[in-house]
Amino acid sequence: MDDRAPPVSKPFPHGVVNDAASVTQVVHRAMSRTADPRLREIMASLVNHLHAFIREARPSPEEFERGLDFLLRVGQASGPEKNEMVLLSDLLGVSTLVVMLEKERSGGSGTDPALLGPFWRDRSPACAPGDNIARDGGGGGEPLAVAGRVVDLRGKPIAGVTVDVWQASPVGLYENQDPAQPDHNLRGRFETDAAGRFHLRTVRPKGYPVPTDGPCGELLRAQDRYPYRPAHLHFMLSREGYKTLVTQVFDNADAAIESDVVFGVTPPLSGEYRRGPDGMLHLDYEFVMQPGTRRIPQAPIP
Ligand code: BEZ
Ligand code: FE
Repeated sequence: MDDRAPPVSKPFPHGVVNDAASVTQVVHRAMSRTADPRLREIMASLVNHLHAFIREARPSPEEFERGLDFLLRVGQASGPEKNEMVLLSDLLGVSTLVVMLEKERSGGSGTDPALLGPFWRDRSPACAPGDNIARDGGGGGEPLAVAGRVVDLRGKPIAGVTVDVWQASPVGLYENQDPAQPDHNLRGRFETDAAGRFHLRTVRPKGYPVPTDGPCGELLRAQDRYPYRPAHLHFMLSREGYKTLVTQVFDNADAAIESDVVFGVTPPLSGEYRRGPDGMLHLDYEFVMQPGTRRIPQAPIP
């Protein structure tokens, strides 16, 4: 099929609009020949809710223009360094709602998922057990030892799980936001051993504000919202035969633990970063994976 060809060559008489009340029905008729049933279902629901939203909010033409300009600028602000579209979904709670509904759909058990966020990169460096992912020496952050265990729903350890970890630097920036950091700083991929365990060294994550230099920042200011995320580490766990788990473990000592601007925190993801008898800061966490399909998401930015 040629994707650049016009969709159909003959007119389809879906009818005309008489008044505001008739618009929705005419649009549904125009979309009624959608071959893909799931696309048909999603678009019908989108049109229903979008039209209901317009009927309720009744934007003036000026407000409609402003709204469209906002969305246009969200797209224009996205590129190789930033994905403002993902950020907007995160700030509206949509990303969290999608992952929470998906957890419910697949039975509701296992570790809570959390949104991927805009800064994950694929193909981060493969690491040996115990490696330090602070490739810049730590940037003045406090050293942290992370020990994880990955089990299935019956508590049996899962070996050979790829554990992709990423985090912001002690100044609150991801490596792909900050030219001062080396490539892949504070990122790495580990593998669980026969006991389902993995270990790594890093620095204590710090809370940080989401990017506020674009249209999403304008929205946050207009809504008087605190732009910070509580300190966290990101994890993506994947292995054939298991549903890929994308999650985050937060620092429950962070003052913003109940103020996450993108709504990623759930009680079980509120972890304890505690000082051990060795004087070192530790995070120990058990991840529970569900059986299912391994799927690696598309990176929000390359
Ligand atoms: C993050 O955790 O990396 C993140 C999530 C949403 C917006 C900005 C950053
Ligand atoms: Fe983050």
